[in-house]
Amino acid sequence: MNVLITGGAGYIGSVTVELLRQRGERIVVLDNLSNGHREAVNIDLPFYTGNVGNANLIKQIVIDHGIEACVHFAAYAYVGESVTDPAKYFENNLTQTITLLNALRESGVDQFVFSSSCATYGEPIRIPIDETHPQWPVNPYGWSKFMIERVLEAYQTAYDLRSVSLRYFNAAGATTVHGEYHDPETHLIPNVLRAANGELEYVSVFGNDYPTPDGTCIRDYIHVSDLADAHVRSLDHLAGGGMSTEINLGNGSGFSVLDVINTARSITGNQIRSTIEDRRGGDPPQLIADSKRAYEVLGWKPGFPELEVIIRSAWDWKLAHPAGYRE
Ligand code: UFG
Repeated sequence: MNVLITGGAGYIGSVTVELLRQRGERIVVLDNLSNGHREAVNIDLPFYTGNVGNANLIKQIVIDHGIEACVHFAAYAYVGESVTDPAKYFENNLTQTITLLNALRESGVDQFVFSSSCATYGEPIRIPIDETHPQWPVNPYGWSKFMIERVLEAYQTAYDLRSVSLRYFNAAGATTVHGEYHDPETHLIPNVLRAANGELEYVSVFGNDYPTPDGTCIRDYIHVSDLADAHVRSLDHLAGGGMSTEINLGNGSGFSVLDVINTARSITGNQIRSTIEDRRGGDPPQLIADSKRAYEVLGWKPGFPELEVIIRSAWDWKLAHPAGYRE
């Protein structure tokens, strides 16, 4: 299959590229390198530096490489920044994505896998969260993903463009070659590991007065290789004539911020200092996925559900790449 991967130089994109390449698929990567890393994509793969909102470029790539499907990762993904600079998020994640979709459908590409998010649910009213849970995002990032899901529904009805929207819970972990490297880094596990190797003096715990057993927020951490596997299965689903759908990707078990820190302490053998700070705005106390639909539709089951395995993989990658992709 000839597949265009936007954002293939990013965290989840690069791991999905790695997996598709292992399967022998023909891949083309498009990334504007605003957050991605050129070093995260094999030099032997066709790579374009550019925006998904460049319709002429998209159409040219489709013609030159016989593109049949697109996996769309490219997006801004800092929740806090989306609150202070919503224009940036709506312009990129929404407007440019619509341009991408139009360029694809005008070029005859009718299979699309979309990086959506559990952020489309907003504050959950029940746990675990299945795909029928009401969606009411609480930040512009979540709204940008929510709105593309609605665009995709309309495009299936009107233009037969079929899609799978994958609603990730908390992506974490690494393969031996690709891992998580953001600047700035806001995510919990990378920051805990930065505190473990001395890059940070301590890790901040944002709030310990939530209605959870230890007072800290609970999340469903999902191994990035399992996320990548779900993208490959989604492509197979669409290639086999499958209809559009939205699918949660999580392990179905939740871990608190303190669980993560304690697990990282035992894996790294480091003390990892932590300090309790104020709550971070917009953090729901608990997010846990019901991923039954992923199994029913894609036959997907997480291969690495254990928190220890997830954190160990991230730590191993960090030890092997102390400067991330900068070295
Ligand atoms: N946290 C800390 N200290 C840190 C970083 C995070 O205590 O240094 C806490 C957060 O407050 C939160 C939990 O750890 O309670 C997880 O935070 P992350 O930033 O790692 O992940 P989020 O759950 O905030 O974000 C993830 C995805 C987003 C997505 C969001 C949906 O990264 O893209 O889930 O809620 F939008």
